[in-house]
Amino acid sequence: MNKIPPLDQNSPEAGFFKQTMNTFEAITARKSVRTFNGLKLDDNILSELRAFCDSLNNAGTSEPACFKGIKRPQIAIIDDAHQAGKLGTYGVISGARSFAIMAYGEDWAEQVLAGYLFEKAVLECTRQGISTCWLGGTFNRAGFQEAYNSLTSSVNNVNPIADNIVGIVSPLGHSTHKTRFAERVMRRVARSAHRHPFKNLFKGIEPPTQQLIDTLCNGNTSGISLEEALKAALEMMRLAPSSRNSQPWRATTETDMDGAISTVRIECVTDNKFSKIDFGIGLYHFIGSLAETGHTGGINLTCPNERPTAIWSSSSNEFHLQE
Ligand SMILES: Cc1cc2nc3c(=O)[nH]c(=O)nc-3n(C[C@H](O)[C@H](O)[C@H](O)COP(=O)(O)O)c2cc1C
Repeated sequence: MNKIPPLDQNSPEAGFFKQTMNTFEAITARKSVRTFNGLKLDDNILSELRAFCDSLNNAGTSEPACFKGIKRPQIAIIDDAHQAGKLGTYGVISGARSFAIMAYGEDWAEQVLAGYLFEKAVLECTRQGISTCWLGGTFNRAGFQEAYNSLTSSVNNVNPIADNIVGIVSPLGHSTHKTRFAERVMRRVARSAHRHPFKNLFKGIEPPTQQLIDTLCNGNTSGISLEEALKAALEMMRLAPSSRNSQPWRATTETDMDGAISTVRIECVTDNKFSKIDFGIGLYHFIGSLAETGHTGGINLTCPNERPTAIWSSSSNEFHLQE
């Protein structure tokens, strides 16, 4: 079988993907890809990604305290070759030979955490030069569930949990230069290239300048004021993927007596099957970006009326994430 040669660890590409792609770059570089080149991923990359997923599956990694005690979703990577062609996507995806799959339970917090962690895995793929596409609807549930149920800890370090349902999958691979008609239709229907303007989503805070975003994407993430860091973190949330590009994140800020931003209240305005997952994705973009600038804070996560809400507060120092 054709294989993509392993990335030479001393090559410029290895340096580009492994060392220099920070959270801002990965977020701005990522977009959904549905047409892949049909080649198998290199075994070394697959085992690195599996190790990364293992670390996400185990509590104790560096997430904010609000996620402590929540049952963790399970993320695994499976190969089409071992599944006798059962990993169908109704023609939405073509040429992908490997998939990341995520199984989780029904609890709202578990779903928020699932969105948060799977996006972490997606951005790690972007860093490794691997394309992805979140799929929540257009995949053969029975085939993927069967693949999850038959996982053994020998490859993925995952022992399937009986109540877990495979709710999200993503193809993993390298894109082709050409897109297919089905892919162009999908992007046009979801208006995937469009995001709501910053001012329509977030109140009490101005959008960041392009110069600030460029600076952060160039790796200059230190010495940024808290206000600039919050602007950039919200901008990163705005760029997050969401089901049908629904972009459910809204935020309002409050200031203290000195006029400094003291809280950011982030709310979810949709109420559908993927709202909590979408919310978790945006939350990871916000927290991961903020942490990249060296700023910390606390997150209080609740779910009044089935709508997840996260309140970031500067007065707490409860998270300082090590990526
Ligand atoms: C939870 C979730 C479920 C999704 N489900 C599907 C899906 O079933 N089929 C599909 O083609 N795209 C799906 N998408 C991809 C979105 O349509 C895409 O992320 C959005 O249009 C923004 O485009 P971008 O990812 O290129 O930025 C899903 C995305 C998310 C976050």
